[in-house]
Order: sequence, then C-alpha cells, then structure tokens
Amino acid sequence: MIFGVTGDLTHRKLIPALYELIVAGRLSWPIIVIGFARRDWDENQLRSVIRDAVEKNARSRPIDESALSRLMENVSYIRSSFDEPEGYRRLKDLLADRNLTHCLFYLAAPPDAYAEIIHQIGQQELAQRSDGWTRVVIEKPYGRDLPSAQALEADVHKVFHENQIYRIDHYLGKETVQNILVFRFSNGIFEPLWNRAYVDHVQITVAEEVGVGTRAGYYETAGVIRDIFQNHLLQLLTLTAMEAPVGFNADAVRDEKVKVLRALRPWREAEALNNTYRAQYVSGLLDGQKVIGYKDEPGVPPASVTETYLAARVFVDNWRWAGVPFYLRSGKRLPRQLTEVVLQFKQVPLSLFDWRNFAGDAPNVLALNIQPDEGITLSFGAKAPGPINTIEPVRMNFSYSETFGGEPPEAYERLLLDVLSGDATLFTRSDEVQAAWAFVTSLLQGWEDHPVRNLPVYEAGTWGPPGADEFIGRDNRAWRDPV
Ligand SMILES: NC(=O)c1ccc[n+]([C@@H]2O[C@H](COP(=O)([O-])OP(=O)(O)OC[C@H]3O[C@@H](n4cnc5c(N)ncnc54)[C@H](OP(=O)(O)O)[C@@H]3O)[C@@H](O)[C@H]2O)c1
Repeated sequence: MIFGVTGDLTHRKLIPALYELIVAGRLSWPIIVIGFARRDWDENQLRSVIRDAVEKNARSRPIDESALSRLMENVSYIRSSFDEPEGYRRLKDLLADRNLTHCLFYLAAPPDAYAEIIHQIGQQELAQRSDGWTRVVIEKPYGRDLPSAQALEADVHKVFHENQIYRIDHYLGKETVQNILVFRFSNGIFEPLWNRAYVDHVQITVAEEVGVGTRAGYYETAGVIRDIFQNHLLQLLTLTAMEAPVGFNADAVRDEKVKVLRALRPWREAEALNNTYRAQYVSGLLDGQKVIGYKDEPGVPPASVTETYLAARVFVDNWRWAGVPFYLRSGKRLPRQLTEVVLQFKQVPLSLFDWRNFAGDAPNVLALNIQPDEGITLSFGAKAPGPINTIEPVRMNFSYSETFGGEPPEAYERLLLDVLSGDATLFTRSDEVQAAWAFVTSLLQGWEDHPVRNLPVYEAGTWGPPGADEFIGRDNRAWRDPV
C-alpha cells in the first residue's frame, strides 16, 4: 500500500525494487499493490506507470514479462487527498474485500503528511490485524530537529507499536555499508587495531556531484546538515565506531549504534562554530561544463545562507575512541559522487627509512569505498626495488565488481525484502533517531545563536573551500585526496 504512488520515489525506486524481488524469486506469495495519491489516475493508468517504471529504472535486462505481469496483476488506485477520511474508508473496504493477510503501508509522501496519514490509518483502525502483520515504512527526513522528531514519534506511536515501524535510511541498504559490519566483525585481524591505540583519526566523506537542481524549496529548509549529515553521515559513523553487538539481530545491532550516538560530544554555542565549517558553491566547471552557483539556482533566495558544504569534527567520548577525531564532510557540486570511510592509523614511533614520496612517511590508511567503486583499499609502505632502502606507498585493493562481478543490488531491494520478512536491523529505531537529532540540534542551536550574513564559498567542481583545508589543518591533518 503506497501513499504517494504517483511520486518520484515510487517510480524510480519502489516499483523497480519490487519487480527485482519478483525476478529473483524472493516474493513467492501473491502481491497486491494499492496506490494512494491525488492525481486523476485509475488502475489502468497505474499499471502503465508500473510498466514504465520497470522499463526505465529496473536493473535487470531484458525485462522479464512474467515477473512484470505478476506485479501488475493485482493493482488498485485510490484517488484521494491524505487528509480526506473518505479515502481511508475506501481503503478499509478494499483491504476487507481483498481478504489480505499482511499489509505494508509505505509512506512515500511529503514529510509534512506523515503524521496526518498515520492519524487517518489509526482512525480507520487499519494498523492492527488479528490474522497477520501490519507494518509501516517511513521515509527520511524523520523530523527536522529534536522537538519535531519527538512530536512525530508521539503521533506514530499512538497508532503503531515500535516493532511495526520501519524508519528507512536507504544508505543502510547498500551492500558496502553492510559490509562495514561484516569486515569488522567477521575478520580477526582488523578489530584489535580499531581503536584509539592505533587509529589517528577517521574521515567520512559523502560527496555529491549534483547541485540542488529543482529541489531548492526543500533544500533551503534542510541544508547538508539535515539532508546528509543527520542521517547518512551519522549512520556511517555509528557503524564504524560501534562495539561488536551481542548478536546480529535488530535490537542487538541498534543497541550498539545508539550507544555511539549517545557518546557524541555535544557541540554547544560557539563550539558548534569551531567544530564545523560551512560553505556554499558558486559557479564553476564540472566535467568541463560550466555550472551555475547555488544562489543562481531556481528558487534560491539571493541572501541564502544555507550550507551546501559541511565539514565537522566529532568526538565519540567512550573508552574505544577517546581523543580520536572523526572528520565528517559532505557537499554538493563536488568533482564526483563518492562515499568513503577512511581510517588513518598512527605512524610508527620512529622512522628508520627514507620515503620516496614527498609527504614523508605515508600513513597506513584503510579506505572503505562505499560508492561508486565499491571496495576496500589498504595503503602501506613497501621497499622499492634497488640497492638502497627507499620506501614507497603502495596499495592492496579489493574491488567488489572484480571479485563478485555484476552490479550490487539496489538498496531498496534489500530494505523492502527486510520489511516484508520483519527484519528491522537496517532500520533506525526510535531512540536512535532521537539521539541523532539531539546531537544535530545542539549544532543547529549553536549556528542559530551565532548567525552569519554570508558563508564562505567554493567553486563548483572543486573538493570544497580552502577554509575546509584550514579547518582540518588546525589539527595538523589533511583531507584525503579522493582522486
Ligand atoms: N525521490 C527520492 O529519491 C527520495 C529519496 C529518499 C527519500 N525520499 C522521501 O520520500 C518521500 C517521497 O518523495 P518523492 O520524491 O517521491 O516526492 P514526490 O515526487 O513529490 O511525490 C509525493 C507523492 O505524494 C503525493 N501527495 C503529496 N501531497 C498529497 C496529498 N495532500 N494528498 C495525497 N497525495 C499527496 C503525490 O501525489 P499527487 O501529486 O498525485 O497528489 C506524490 O505521489 C519524501 O518524504 C522524500 O523525502 C525520496
């Protein structure tokens, strides 16, 4: 049951993911797709949009007609606004007619509609069933600060129990994000080094090549901090920093993630300014093409101080990580799309050799490449051939595509299957979302209390402003060059 079936997310991600699950033989039971939105569509129109979504956005080729027919076989469309009880009454009748066993509500709707939809589901008593399960998936963003996230929590919990709620952050559906846990907890050799005794610092980068495009209305109210930092960056941080869970199940994993979020040192008042660096892109060259600056994008006010680049220094104040800075950064209009987690290890206590590279002893670096070149790289020093001891930095490289071949499945495929199987490990729990917002809200408050008239700028197509290099340079460190 998709609320917002006519939208972009449904077309680009949800329908193709359902189709791929059918192709892969993962959905063996009959499926009924019910769509809900305002547009003047009917069942036939929804069917043809499903076909279009699969033809344009599905991964597997050629199109498997029998899988597609299964997806289009049982389709219903409810034309209604989210705040009209009549639409939900029709939904109730439809669910009763179809004699469904299980029901998944997917909120692919604007965030300001979540509370209303859930309220209406509750009014029609659709949230609980005696003969099967009912679950709800709620898209990001989940609130815009701690008070709004808590208000949404209160509304959602009036209708659903926590074990029915799946707050989605699609980053967790990515193979390589899940591989952070597998890499750490299924190999004996890395975990003993994964702490303050050996790690100098950690860098996590989420770089976007795209600009704000047509989404200025949303972006002006969000900025990098709400769009990427509160969710994707903090999720990557928790997986990197967490302790080993007592088991690989939803509560055990999320218990450990929450502890990391609670251990984040809150940055208050001026500390919020000293430990973050914000900037905005101006026009520049990207892939040889001139692109416009943020303030020239349609819908962006000329006096905007919304950050399109954010670097932050974060400390996890627990025994494992005390004193180890985590540098997180994300920006739009950077040279290319890239997500990576990098651990830089401490130097040897005393250097005995000549290094051929200009930077002195090249540090040992472990890079977990989340996208696009999924893999893991370990950099270390090796003796260059020759009669004298000259050391050069070299790399050991594991590439997903070379080793396993093919494209990794889309995040939504894994996540939808997990919801249907009742596995919430890769979804954010109530206390987790609130702990993340508590940290971010302290930053937002600090910024609000010390308003700026202008942000520093960086040219589109560069890796960010010079000030961001100085920001990390204050600690005698440098951003890893992703190139
Ligand atoms: N698109 C993505 O890649 C993406 C990624 C991550 C998260 N998300 C999240 O997913 C959600 C949906 O995003 P989207 O990009 O699909 O948005 P969208 O393209 O704007 O679609 C919104 C959907 O909600 C429906 N809708 C809006 N107001 C309505 C109302 N009052 N009554 C009934 N239907 C209404 C629209 O249908 P009608 O216009 O027909 O009424 C449309 O089907 C958002 O919360 C977004 O933050 C999206």
